[in-house]
Amino acid sequence: PAAVRLKLNNKSVEFGTRVKVYGRIHRLRVQKQATFITLRDGYGFLQAILTGDLTKTYDALVFAQETSLVLYGEMKKVPEGAEAPDGRELHVDYYKVLGAAPSDLDAITNKVSREQDPWEASMLDSRHLVLRGENAAAVMKLRQYVELAFIDSYRELDFTKVSPPAMVQTQVEGGSTLFKYDYYGEEAYLTQSSQLYLETAIQSLGNVYCIEKSFRAERSLTRRHLSEYTHVEAELDFIEFEDLLEHIEDLISKVVDKILANETSAAILKQLNPTFEKPGPFLRMKYSDAIDWLNKQDPPILNEEGDPHVFGDDIAEAAERRMTDIINRPIFLYGFPADLKAFYMQKDKEDRRITESVDVLMPGVGEIVGGSMRMDNHEELLEAYKKEGISADPYYWYTDVRKYGSSPHGGYGLGLERFLAWMANQHTVRTACLYPRFMGRCKP
Ligand code: 4AD
Ligand code: MG
Repeated sequence: PAAVRLKLNNKSVEFGTRVKVYGRIHRLRVQKQATFITLRDGYGFLQAILTGDLTKTYDALVFAQETSLVLYGEMKKVPEGAEAPDGRELHVDYYKVLGAAPSDLDAITNKVSREQDPWEASMLDSRHLVLRGENAAAVMKLRQYVELAFIDSYRELDFTKVSPPAMVQTQVEGGSTLFKYDYYGEEAYLTQSSQLYLETAIQSLGNVYCIEKSFRAERSLTRRHLSEYTHVEAELDFIEFEDLLEHIEDLISKVVDKILANETSAAILKQLNPTFEKPGPFLRMKYSDAIDWLNKQDPPILNEEGDPHVFGDDIAEAAERRMTDIINRPIFLYGFPADLKAFYMQKDKEDRRITESVDVLMPGVGEIVGGSMRMDNHEELLEAYKKEGISADPYYWYTDVRKYGSSPHGGYGLGLERFLAWMANQHTVRTACLYPRFMGRCKP
């Protein structure tokens, strides 16, 4: 009978059917009487068995991990007690090698992404091969589902997707992490955040969002900092701070629900993080209460100088992570001192030392979201530029938001890789990227 062309995620193929499948050798087991192949095609896995003369041909003798081939044969149910992906196996009657592979790959594909240290240079040099491993591939598949879940959630909430420029002449999150370059003779930067542009779009589009790359020249090597990352950002018009918090919690809840509701993404998530559960309501914690909380631990969690925390201290990554791990649930940490935060943040109406700002902290990762209400007073923003030591000139269009019909508005940015590191229980954001970029690493 004619062979049916099969993708490996197609489970509807009936047993007894002769099929034709393309794939690569994911695993290989050569025995005297038979050769067992676990075939991989990017959609799924299939056990294939070669017996008799088929195991004796030259090609079969040089089969190696990653050899690509086309196989023909009958699909059969695996016998009782035997295990194979989807409970089926292909009894091969004909095959052809399409691309041979040297047999030196074992160390860098299947096993590595789970068992070896993803910080290791050789692993990162071999990222293009590591991606062929089960674990790395699962993270990339989940990443796509997460991105789609954000898009679907924003559509449900009636946000409009926009695509702001990556090449800009304004900073958002401080001059020290700007990537500068020459733009036809003018100084320009790779964007740190699309926020300022989103703020100029709400007047005509209503609530907006974007999923774009942001760039940060981070000079420290941590497990959660990248030089290039995917930034999910949104801006909401005519809101109060409380609305912003409610929206962020609702959005994250929607995204988690969607991942769990879809059979495929739920299965991938289970493979990566078997104990994942949807988090309960976020704990709300004021920055000043967090300072007290850190000092009250036994022993106290100290600041970067090794002293107890005082109001005005940055809660550094290590302290933040300890706090999140101990509390072990999502936290809205809000009301940061103005001196610690970006120039554009709205001040608290009662206490001018603090801002209407919020970070979302997740167990295992720490900060995954940073957001705030935006300064909406024209004069106050001009003062803020001065205080920040930046010229107002390149920001004229941002200032105009306050000049032509200003409004109470706010928004946030969520690091997609950090979100994924949280959900998929990754030790570092590096394994949440197809090809991570961080200081010292710009290849492959
Ligand atoms: O807290 P950040 O710097 O806030 C902003 O950029 C705002 N302008 C966003 C906005 O309001 N539209 O960054 C927001 C989030 C962080 O919480 C973190 O998840 C992620 O972006 N992030 C990074 N992720 C990976 N590597 C880096 N170097 C990151 N810097 C920020
Ligand atoms: Mg932040």
